[in-house]
Amino acid sequence: MDTEVTVFAPASMGNVAVGYDVLGSALNCIGDRVTVRRLDEPVVRVGGITGCVTDLPTTPADNTATVALLDLMETRDLDFGFEVSLEKGIPLGSGLGGSAASAVGAVVAAAELLPMSLSNDELLPHALAGEAVASGAIHPDNVAPCLYGGLVLTREVDPPDVISIPVPDRIRCVLVRPDRMIETRDARACLPESLPLTDSVKQTAHLGAFVAGCYRNDLELIGRALRDLIVEPHRASLVPGFADVQSAAMEHGALGCSLSGAGPTVFAWCDGPVEAERIEEAMSTAFAAHDVPTEAWISTIPTAGARAVEPSPTDAAM
Ligand code: HSE
Repeated sequence: MDTEVTVFAPASMGNVAVGYDVLGSALNCIGDRVTVRRLDEPVVRVGGITGCVTDLPTTPADNTATVALLDLMETRDLDFGFEVSLEKGIPLGSGLGGSAASAVGAVVAAAELLPMSLSNDELLPHALAGEAVASGAIHPDNVAPCLYGGLVLTREVDPPDVISIPVPDRIRCVLVRPDRMIETRDARACLPESLPLTDSVKQTAHLGAFVAGCYRNDLELIGRALRDLIVEPHRASLVPGFADVQSAAMEHGALGCSLSGAGPTVFAWCDGPVEAERIEEAMSTAFAAHDVPTEAWISTIPTAGARAVEPSPTDAAM
């Protein structure tokens, strides 16, 4: 049996505008590489952190990857432990599922080192326990797509009931990240504790219609439904120029445009690669008009979630 495994864990987008905390999609533009090494003693530790983020906690109780591994080790009563090394490809506080990728990558890699085989449903609670230390709450909308791949709706986490939703082939997701950072726990603190019933009814209708549009391959229906009436109004002011960026995307033909997860990355779902390029340019230009530097990607929605890969040359040096 291997004693060390490297996993690629993709970036992900929580909420997808229409399903706060329950809907999420994997992304194929960036991701983390997570290497887990088996240790003889039952301890968990961080081996190293490299890549675009290096100032993450290394205390096992504070890092999403090590908390996920501690949960796995304790729940499964393992008599051995793990060292985890992170090569971060997902910017911190970007709304692209960086903390989820570390937690998911760690449990998927560790699972390869176990004597028994564990399903995604069995790995999900451990990854959720890890991500909860970063955001202060259990929400599966980044962890689930990072683990299962694709566009997924989590109806329930205990026991897990994660439903994969088909995405029309032509869909492209434009992501424009302003050079800002938002902590998920701060973005959650902006939200009201309760909602007017009428808003809840309207948003439920949008979510149902969006899912139907995906199953029916009906991009016009997706375009009518891809709206966030309940969260975006409270968070829009956290992102400089958000209203103009959203208008630019919609004027250039986006099916919908909102915050990726807790932001500040703004996403737009588009019909095909040509439209996506045009919309990406319009959104980046709108941010530039507010003097906000950006980086941007155009992603499909990959069906594969976190998976074992060959170690990169830098892994050997960790
Ligand atoms: N559903 C979470 C939130 C996603 O919006 O707070 C965080 O990426």
